[in-house]
Amino acid sequence: MADHKDFLILKTVAEVREWRNNVQGSLGFIPTMGYLHVGHVSLINRAREENDYVVVSIFVNPKQFGPKKDFNKYPRDVTHDLHVLKDAKVDVLFLPDVDEMYPEGFETKVSVTQLSKKLEGAKRPGHFDGVTTVISKLFNIIQPTSAYFGQKDAQQVIIIKKMVFDLQFPVHINVGDTIRGENGLALSSRNVHLQQKEKEEAATLSESLLLAQKLFQQGERNPETIKNAMKQIIKKTTGLIDYISIANPRTLDELILIDKEALVSLAVYFGKTRLIDNCLLNL
Ligand code: PAF
Repeated sequence: MADHKDFLILKTVAEVREWRNNVQGSLGFIPTMGYLHVGHVSLINRAREENDYVVVSIFVNPKQFGPKKDFNKYPRDVTHDLHVLKDAKVDVLFLPDVDEMYPEGFETKVSVTQLSKKLEGAKRPGHFDGVTTVISKLFNIIQPTSAYFGQKDAQQVIIIKKMVFDLQFPVHINVGDTIRGENGLALSSRNVHLQQKEKEEAATLSESLLLAQKLFQQGERNPETIKNAMKQIIKKTTGLIDYISIANPRTLDELILIDKEALVSLAVYFGKTRLIDNCLLNL
């Protein structure tokens, strides 16, 4: 157990269990993969306002990455993260290594089978099984009363809510708004890989989502018309569209007509960096 002046850094499951056995009251938990930014801090701030204790985890989860090189490429900066967590006044950082989470012989998988195959799951097979497996483990270890996730990963939120419902985890799931930079680009740890020009061009993701909202407000209900208008904006850049989807926010099935609500989501490559963003349409 290490003490970073104002908060505890716990590296093993046994240490967390011991700490947890000695605290009572509400516990807000923010699972992260580190390289913390203002989006994470906004979730931590909310958790602090709403709970007696705040725990953050930093664990770059190998099970949610495809090729090993993507896992190795994921940005890491624990020194920076420790400063962020100190300023944000958390109580505990859980910082396990891979062997602590997945000891030799680990073979269990938690899967929200259908929702995990759609959208991002279709492009990144196995990704959401990795997310639900690690989140179930983290919930079991930390035993939070509430957990906080960002709306930027809309499908992740939908899948985790379904897992919590199906497996009856006694954890309340809170969703924080997507935090954006000045030009509208959604904050993401992956933005660090963008060149300056790509960063400017990537603002078209949020521009295209704003256009989708505007067209919907003006009465447009045909997903294809909205998607085409979004494409025109992104096509002006070097971005390569992986997908644009307008789907039912509960089933994630593509819509042929928008009735009351829809999840608009997209994934676009700028160079080798794949960015995602989304917005909800509702009446
Ligand atoms: O959103 C993330 O950073 C990760 O998917 C999460 C929720 C921490 C699980 O590894």
